[in-house]
Amino acid sequence: MESIRRTKIADLLKQPAIDTTVNVKGWVRSKRGNKNVNFIALNDGSSIKNVQVVVDVENFDAELLKKITTGACLSVVGKLVASQGAGQSVEIQASDIELYGEANPDEYPLQKKGHSMEFLREIAHLRLRTNTFGAVMRIRHNMAIAIHRYFHEHGFYYFNTPIITASDAEGAGEMFQVTTLDLARTGADGDVAYDKDFFGKKTNLTVSGQLEGELGATALGAIYTFGPTFRAENSNTPRHLAEFWMIEPEVAFIDKDDLMDLEEDFIKYCVQWALDNCMDDLEFLNKMIDTTLLDTLHSVVKEDFVRLPYTEGVKILEEAQAKGHKFEFPVTGWGMDLASEHERFLVEEYFKRPVIMTDYPSEIKAFYMKKNADGKTMQGTDVLFPRIGEIIGGSVREESYEKLTNEIKARGMELDTYKWYLDTRKFGSCPHGGFGLGFERLILFVTGMQNIRDVIPFPRTPKNAEF
Ligand code: 4AD
Ligand code: MG
Repeated sequence: MESIRRTKIADLLKQPAIDTTVNVKGWVRSKRGNKNVNFIALNDGSSIKNVQVVVDVENFDAELLKKITTGACLSVVGKLVASQGAGQSVEIQASDIELYGEANPDEYPLQKKGHSMEFLREIAHLRLRTNTFGAVMRIRHNMAIAIHRYFHEHGFYYFNTPIITASDAEGAGEMFQVTTLDLARTGADGDVAYDKDFFGKKTNLTVSGQLEGELGATALGAIYTFGPTFRAENSNTPRHLAEFWMIEPEVAFIDKDDLMDLEEDFIKYCVQWALDNCMDDLEFLNKMIDTTLLDTLHSVVKEDFVRLPYTEGVKILEEAQAKGHKFEFPVTGWGMDLASEHERFLVEEYFKRPVIMTDYPSEIKAFYMKKNADGKTMQGTDVLFPRIGEIIGGSVREESYEKLTNEIKARGMELDTYKWYLDTRKFGSCPHGGFGLGFERLILFVTGMQNIRDVIPFPRTPKNAEF
């Protein structure tokens, strides 16, 4: 085979050097044609777009051409020419083809026909080679870049918090235990000798990096985490994963209004980044997955988010219910936790804009949130999005050592495990706050995909840890 440097298909299509000899490598998406000429659509993952390879049948070994089927991997050398056919501007007239890897059509599960998302989940190791998952993964990468850029440009430090921890950051008890002990062989009384465990105490996978993030923020001023988090909540919904990625900025000297400004500015930046950098993939998804996708993305960056106290939100929901709106989970009034259908009603039907909901009842939220003077509500700032419901959970933090200590005790949590956390309040305490963005929920929103299992390469959900 003629040795010339390989060109990525994205680069080749961006600036086509017509009439030069090029080398492309990739996987066959489809092959069609007749006894004289074959057309191969080749994709190398650099773009949603394929390059068309034109094969003059008489110049190639028939055995080789027979083996070029959907899914096979090829290296192609040929002349790049303006295309005579519709659907592409350039094509490659193949002079040499090397078959790297066959994909037996009797066994390769990804044939040309459209597959259901459920089927593709069963072959998550191969679904990455479909157009849809290629688009989703490129957008996922771009969102990670946007997030790091945003915080870097705004003076936040990337701060890495532990994955294994002995505390429960949310105090909700939804943790996966980490142990090297054989728990089936515990003492006669059922007691586990955790002093003999790897860390000498009971440990778990983190549900959130926030508590350690607060240690960073109260020293460095502004930090953000971006890492995996784990929740053993048995929620089999299109919006919950047992292992998901979270971005948690934490900022010293911030009040509730500043925090809401930060949430809104940050998430708009990410969506705008997708519009500026992922348009080919977004157009594909807009056509194939959700025809309202581009309109929704444009409207989110344009509109001001509504800022809505919980108490008012519940009133709106009660009125809607009184007027006959049927909720699957009835609105029971002040003090209720909102279900995603309630959040979506406010966002999609009532305001038709994203909503930042504030001042929730303390009882339905985590222990670390700062209480308002009314003693009943606290300074939460959750962002509710169309199609998603809660995309960000945030709050101003309780900075009083005494109040925080009392709250931890009142909730029956073990004060001992939070000693180091309480030191931030004991020594040089300061007003501060932050939030957590669920990375996969952002990807769900930006791609228009319906199920959170389809925006992460290998989802972990109850009864599923395949791959
Ligand atoms: O609202 P949450 O539980 O808040 C926290 O963890 C805080 N420590 C954040 C902070 O203030 N630093 O979770 C934050 C976000 C949610 O709004 C949601 O987007 C996402 O994380 N999330 C999940 N995403 C996927 N699967 C799950 N099981 C999720 N649980 C929360
Ligand atoms: Mg939350």
